[in-house]
Amino acid sequence: MAWGACIAALLLLLLLAAAGSNGGVHCLEQGSRSRRALQGRHHLRSRAVGGATVLELRHHSFSSAPSKSREEEADALLSSDAARVASLQRRIENYRLIGSSGEAAASKAQVPVTSGAKLRTLNYVATVGLGGGEATVIVDTASELTWVQCKPCDSCHDQQEPLFDPSSSPSYAAVPCDSPSCDALQVATGMSGSPPACGAADRPACSYTLSYRDGSYSRGVLARDRLSLAGEAVDGFVFGCGTSNQGAPFGGTSGLMGLGRSQLSLVSQTADQFGGVFSYCLPLKESDSSGSLVLGDDSSVYRNSTPIVYTSMVSDPLQGPFYFLNLTGITVGGQEVGSPGFSAGKVIVDSGTVITSLVPSIYSAVKAEFLSQLAEYPQAPAFSILDTCFNMTGLSEVQVPSLKLVFNGGVEVEVDSSGVLYFVSSDSSQVCLAMAALRSEYETSIIGNYQQKNLRVIFDTSASQVGFAQETCGYI
Ligand SMILES: *[C@@H]1O[C@H](CO)[C@@H](O)[C@H](O)[C@H]1NC(C)=O
Ligand SMILES: *[C@@H]1O[C@H](CO)[C@@H](O)[C@H](O)[C@H]1NC(C)=O
Repeated sequence: MAWGACIAALLLLLLLAAAGSNGGVHCLEQGSRSRRALQGRHHLRSRAVGGATVLELRHHSFSSAPSKSREEEADALLSSDAARVASLQRRIENYRLIGSSGEAAASKAQVPVTSGAKLRTLNYVATVGLGGGEATVIVDTASELTWVQCKPCDSCHDQQEPLFDPSSSPSYAAVPCDSPSCDALQVATGMSGSPPACGAADRPACSYTLSYRDGSYSRGVLARDRLSLAGEAVDGFVFGCGTSNQGAPFGGTSGLMGLGRSQLSLVSQTADQFGGVFSYCLPLKESDSSGSLVLGDDSSVYRNSTPIVYTSMVSDPLQGPFYFLNLTGITVGGQEVGSPGFSAGKVIVDSGTVITSLVPSIYSAVKAEFLSQLAEYPQAPAFSILDTCFNMTGLSEVQVPSLKLVFNGGVEVEVDSSGVLYFVSSDSSQVCLAMAALRSEYETSIIGNYQQKNLRVIFDTSASQVGFAQETCGYI
């Protein structure tokens, strides 16, 4: 009966015949193949069209030893994703604390100790020009400061491009301690109460530290240089020149692009050129697909197949770099899911978290609806953070219930069929709902990139709204 209510229920073929090739179920392919693709051609393309600057986006994964099984890889990915979610919760809390203490803004560049996003799963990359070279960086909407590894390296992870070398860039300049950018760094790194690390005789430069939960980090000095986005120059772009960096999560990339909402982010720094608007379309991970990161509001470059619908960002002076939206409902197979948790509203849209994490009250309601609509399939054990799993071995096709996210203003966003279920094993004996529960009602739900595939997601910071439309991602 539930199927009768399905809106556009989707057929997803399980190509079980491909046993042994491990490529049977494409929507889950993480890792080595994408890595090779990155290695093969890591200078991703870019171009300027009319008012827009378009960068090619690709999936990137730090992983992995080829010997790892699919399950091991999935397990590593999901546990690191859980760590990122936990770390984001702490950062959100930190911004609240900074706001209420009122101290942070007044002090100079600071050194966070334990905070920061965990980068392991920030897995889409784009290439930008910096100083005269090129840098392929992870795209992260929950970070503010852009950073690259810099010479002379005390410690750097292996990267595929030559290291950024300040001494060979005439347009490079260190940011002095008494500059507003150095002041903003405190907020950018989401920390307060640290001892002043700037301006002392032995530390004349404005230094930064981003520490991530798994022990990875980037440390260095705040600097300026010319950033080039598809030939569009941004002079005096403020970024972190990281001379001490560590962490497998960064893979072979040169660093990270901060697309958050606040002052030091690329979006804010380029507001004159691009009007504070950017958008992305995150490609599926299989094959050689790529997507695009578009800076500017020229919608003529989008290839959306449905009209763009906009919902307001929830504004909060303590929001930090995060994009908060008001999630008012979820429908599964056309069936509205009821939960008191929706009244709390605020969720984050994040490019760097993989699996959508929901507060327990909403998650359990969604889970119950999936269990009821997929009741014909035997349940399978939980896998890592995914606890709504089915054994679909031997089936030639599965009807995937449609999944819609509803935001304030009645804005409905249909999740691509590839973003509903997570195929843990290649024989489909463990197929799980690709969403997870947070630990507490007081945490903040996060819409992850697994549920944003094949969507054009538009972040308009000047109008304070986020737009969604369906789009089959491709570099345009
Ligand atoms: C899944 O179902 C198949 C066929 O019904 C069965 O042979 C297999 O043992 C099940 N696998 C698991 C992990 O439950
Ligand atoms: C979210 O939207 C609902 C329904 O429109 C509204 O009642 C609520 O006040 C909104 N919450 C926030 C935080 O904006």
